[in-house]
Amino acid sequence: MNFFLELLKVIGLSTYYMLESLVFLFVPKRKKNVSGEIVLITGAGSGIGRLLSLKFAKLGATLVLWDINQDGLRETCRLAEENGAVRIHSYICDCSKRQEVYRVADQVKKEVGDVSILVNNAGIVTGRSFIESPDSLVEKTMEVNTMAHFWTYKAFLPAMIASNHGHLVSIASSAGLIGVNRLADYCASKFAAVGFAESISFEMKVLGKTGVKTTTVCPYFINTGMFDGCSTRWPLLLPILDPDYVAEKIMTAIRRDQAILVLPRSLYFFFALKNILPVKVGILLADFAGALHFMDSFKGRAKKD
Ligand SMILES: NC(=O)c1ccc[n+]([C@@H]2O[C@H](COP(=O)([O-])OP(=O)(O)OC[C@H]3O[C@@H](n4cnc5c(N)ncnc54)[C@H](O)[C@@H]3O)[C@@H](O)[C@H]2O)c1
Ligand SMILES: *[C@@H]1O[C@H](CO)[C@@H](O)[C@H](O)[C@H]1NC(C)=O
Repeated sequence: MNFFLELLKVIGLSTYYMLESLVFLFVPKRKKNVSGEIVLITGAGSGIGRLLSLKFAKLGATLVLWDINQDGLRETCRLAEENGAVRIHSYICDCSKRQEVYRVADQVKKEVGDVSILVNNAGIVTGRSFIESPDSLVEKTMEVNTMAHFWTYKAFLPAMIASNHGHLVSIASSAGLIGVNRLADYCASKFAAVGFAESISFEMKVLGKTGVKTTTVCPYFINTGMFDGCSTRWPLLLPILDPDYVAEKIMTAIRRDQAILVLPRSLYFFFALKNILPVKVGILLADFAGALHFMDSFKGRAKKD
């Protein structure tokens, strides 16, 4: 196409898309029906994974729940039944292990069917300065927070592509958009998850698979216990988030096919600033926000290993 024609098209479409999103601000998109969808949630035995399971149960989805924590998983199933779930399938699966993911994925395909909504939610955190982080935990963090996404996509994406229907949900973190001291391995794993999800969304676009949607979620600290001990400096500006609030926002984002969800909203503004201001100003603002001391009082979950 002629350069000027192409340019005209880009200007025309950008204007259209901006107006479109302005309209959606006032007249929100309809939420899609997830009843009858097969939803796989990793790390469903606790926190956000559990809450998402309950919300999908209420909406009539078929649940496929994975976790390594047997007791947590059992409790989620019990609660999901209370929430009206009739089709629940739970599996003990360590998603950090490639062969185990493939093995359990085959079992799911046989026993339940093709997963149409894949929620990669399982996550772990080391929470120490990088030098003090044991190699084994650094490796595990990458395996759970990033590489599990590779293997689950390998297992479930082909069926979504074949039917041009599906949804890939990546529970990343705001630590996937900005580095944080004492979270180096965690940030690396979450940046990787964000980059991976975005790349796959482009692959879907180029393949013309417009029916395969993606949603990447980047929340600030949530009060689930994973980051116990951490405090926020200005709670009004950057509140520690309530798990149910986050889960509800995630559900809405999924059901409206929203590509990215950053919570709280003030972070959109902060990240925009970070990208256009000089680096020193960015650091100053991050320090003002308490970012350099987030992890000072980190306790996390009581360690079992
Ligand atoms: N809590 C926060 O402040 C926060 C902030 C931003 C993003 N996130 C992300 O949200 C997601 C959920 O976090 P949460 O706060 O609900 O944590 P959580 O600790 O309450 O739940 C995580 C679940 O993942 C499971 N899990 C851990 N390793 C696993 C493995 N190898 N295989 C299968 N399951 C495994 C755990 O057993 C647990 O049930 C994580 O990816 C986390 O990184 C959390
Ligand atoms: C949602 O989909 C299910 C199954 O496809 C259907 O039975 C149900 O009526 C739909 N609900 C709404 C509100 O459209």
